[in-house]
Parts: sequence; C-alpha cells; structure tokens
Amino acid sequence: MNDRYCVFGNPIAHSKSPMIHAAFAEQTGEAMEYTAIEAPLNDFAGAWERFVAEGGRGANVTVPFKEEAFRLCDTLSRRARRAGAVNTLLLGKNGLTYGDTTDGVGLVRDLQYHEVGLGGARILVLGAGGAVRGILEPLLAMQPSSVHVANRTASKALALAEDFADLGPIDGGGFDAVAGPFDLVINGTSASLSGELPPLPDDLFSRGACAYDMMYGAEPTVFLHWAEGRGARGIDGLGMLVEQAAESFFLWRNRRPETGSVRAALRNLLLE
Ligand code: ATR
Repeated sequence: MNDRYCVFGNPIAHSKSPMIHAAFAEQTGEAMEYTAIEAPLNDFAGAWERFVAEGGRGANVTVPFKEEAFRLCDTLSRRARRAGAVNTLLLGKNGLTYGDTTDGVGLVRDLQYHEVGLGGARILVLGAGGAVRGILEPLLAMQPSSVHVANRTASKALALAEDFADLGPIDGGGFDAVAGPFDLVINGTSASLSGELPPLPDDLFSRGACAYDMMYGAEPTVFLHWAEGRGARGIDGLGMLVEQAAESFFLWRNRRPETGSVRAALRNLLLE
C-alpha cells in the first residue's frame, strides 16, 4: 500500500493541496497518496487519530485547525513553537506526532523565487492574526533593516512585535501610525477575502517596491490592485501555497520537488 497523506480542513472541498502533492509525487517518483479530509469542527484530534490508525503518515492542516494541531503534537519544531500553529504533521517511527509550520518559509522562498530582496529591506506587514504570526520568524531571519507590523487593532500588533523582538528589529502599531516608504508590504490580513482594503497612506512604497498578498485568486486582490496603481510590483500568494507544500513534502519524503511547473499548472487552473 502507498504511504498515505492528507490535508485536514473544514471546509476542504476546494483545496488545491491534493493536486499540488500529486504533481510532486509524480515528479519525484514517490509512491504515496494524498487526499483531502474534512475533519469535524469539534474533534480534530480524533480525525488525526483515525487517519493514523488507517495508515496515515503525515498531514497538512489548514483553517480552522492549525492551533488545535499545535496542541496535539508530542514534539514541535522551534518555528512551530514560535508560530503557535502547525500546518504539517508527521508521524514518527516511534509513533509520536511531530508538528512543524512551513507557511513562513514558503513565503520567504516565494519572495526569493521572485527575486525580491529581503536583506536590508524595510518591510511593512499588515495584520496581526495567526497568518502573520507564522511568517515573522523566517522574515526576520532574512535580516531586513526593519519590520513594522500594522493592524486594525493596534494592541495586537504591539503584542506580536513584542513576542518577536528578540529575533530582530520589529515594532508594531495601528494603521494610522504607518509611515513609509517601505520596500516590501505584505498583506496578511483577511481583508482581501471580503474585498476590503486596510486604510493606508498613498506614499507607502519606495521606488521598485513590492506588494505581496498572502491571498490569491483568478483576479488580483483589491490590495494588489491598489498597490499596483501606486507603482508597486504586485505578487499574490499562489507561489507561497506551492512553496509551503514543497517544504511539507520535503519533511515527509526527504525530496525537494521543483515548484515552477506546479506554479504554472495552478495558475492555468485558476484562469480556466
Ligand atoms: P488569520 O489566521 O487569517 O490570520 P485571524 O487570526 O482571524 O486570521 O486574523 C485576521 C487578521 O485580519 C487580523 O489582523 C484582523 O485585524 P483585527 O486584529 O483588528 O481583527 C485582520 N482583518 C480582518 N478583516 C479586516 C479588515 N476588513 N480590515 C483590516 N484588517 C482586517
């Protein structure tokens, strides 16, 4: 029987992860299957246990289970402990569950793929929820000159910046305290989902700046549309999705898939 993997979420029907991992498996010749499983909202731990009992070796975890997955792990990576969330589960040979988060490194790899310079960059991060908590450690590890976290609820941005202050130059505040220019602005709010735009000043971007939205869709998000209108280069989160998947695949199979062809296939699928 092939080794079994899955992505847990609720809802999960539209997940692109099965397609991405099928492409990675084919490319690397790994004998594995990867399915999407809708876990019950009140029993994520039970869903993981059942999957393991049926031969499951590892899983991705998406909304709304990343914090619950974090809590059930026997051991955690350092970056998962920082993030307080887990998007990758791995069953060890000893039967223990190991948890990691690959979202942040996925973002950094995608920025590198697009040749966005991070070392010495002035970075603005919008939002202070779970998604942003997951990217701050890998971002700070790239040695930017500063990271400013801005959030609708200023106190959450301040608290988050404090949590990561030992890792590099980071501070936080409300949207009204945002003062550019920035070389990179990352939208990690869920505002794009409802077609909303955080209130931002017009002179946010430095010359040659990049605007990155962790969301993606067939059309540019409102944030990217707004940023491109102000001269920034816009990049959506499709590549981050593929790169975090590649990193999970590497954890499970110790093989690093090539991501370019999978990015292209996913983009084509979106545009169909
Ligand atoms: P996620 O796991 O996606 O990060 P979350 O933890 O619920 O989800 O965080 C959502 C983030 O999007 C928060 O930073 C939230 O701001 P608040 O902390 O003030 O709630 C932000 N957000 C959601 N809708 C927004 C909107 N319409 N405008 C600006 N920020 C918004």
